[in-house]
Amino acid sequence: MGVSFLGWGAAVPDRVVTNADLTATLDTTDEWIFERTGIRERRVGGSAGSLGLLAAQRALADAGVDASTINYVVLATTTPDNLIPATAPTIAHQLGIHAPAMDVNAACAGFVYALRTGVGLAATGSSRILVIGAENLSRWTDWNDRTMAVLLGDGAGAAVIEATDGPGDVLSFDLGSDGSLAHLLRCEHGGTIWMDGKEVFRRAVRIMVDSAERAIARAGISIDDISLVIPHQANVRIIQAACQRLHLEMNRAVVVLDRYGNTSSASIPLAVDEARTSNRLHAGDYVLLTGFGAGMTWASSVIRWAT
Ligand code: UT7
Repeated sequence: MGVSFLGWGAAVPDRVVTNADLTATLDTTDEWIFERTGIRERRVGGSAGSLGLLAAQRALADAGVDASTINYVVLATTTPDNLIPATAPTIAHQLGIHAPAMDVNAACAGFVYALRTGVGLAATGSSRILVIGAENLSRWTDWNDRTMAVLLGDGAGAAVIEATDGPGDVLSFDLGSDGSLAHLLRCEHGGTIWMDGKEVFRRAVRIMVDSAERAIARAGISIDDISLVIPHQANVRIIQAACQRLHLEMNRAVVVLDRYGNTSSASIPLAVDEARTSNRLHAGDYVLLTGFGAGMTWASSVIRWAT
């Protein structure tokens, strides 16, 4: 038994904040930000709930299914609208869904964690599941801290999955965590996001490559079979370094961080949605999703694009 993807959707706030906009208040330059990160602009606004709702509505429309047929909602977010209640039940209510709904926090690996959760739920009787990644990182950003403010953005992406007989579209997973690295990237209650960027960078490349290789091996394929890699969007130099070590040409990687910055749990589904709508995904393609983030956590999955 496995799952198939029925539809995808994404949403970003309307407000664009360019690197040039940030230079008005921060000691930084467009050149520094673009050369060190690959980011040109980011979207700012909304909430995990409002962006997650819009992405979910679009995924349901793409799937052509009614919200009332969803029997589980899993929302990956590090920035829920409130500590209590979770944001997923509010999104579910706004969609007219009365099924179980919960948040999952695995930072930038969150969407693949939520997908893994959804696949597990499908195997135990939940037939149609809404998996969302949504973030409102701007709310937890110190806009006077040039080391973080230039990196983060808001957004959401969602997928509708359905239990199916046979292996389905999700071929493998590799998930993990190492809590001894919790100090590298954190946000305390009432605080703002802080990161030891250099150390996270160094570990991110190795962690992502190792995890991706395990997921590819578990799928029973080789790296040459991967048509597209859809990585977490933290820094284009991390994506380049990981691709180089995996012996994947960069033209097989989806990069959206130039326009959205780092949107944590939302980055992978946002990038899937862009790849899908720009015809970079074709039936039968093997696609690698891979992410890492605070915790530290990491998660990779190989999926086979069906439509
Ligand atoms: O999504 C979860 C995981 N997150 C990540 O994977 C992010 C990983 N880390 C990174 O992407 C990079 O480490 C950063 C983009 C955060 C930083 O790039 P870096 O090449 O590691 O720069 P750095 O922190 O070593 O800073 C180099 C210099 C420093 O100045 P000094 O000490 O050399 O004089 C910084 O103070 O750049 C300075 N700097 C800036 N300059 C202009 C730091 N931020 C800025 C800025 N504008 N915004």
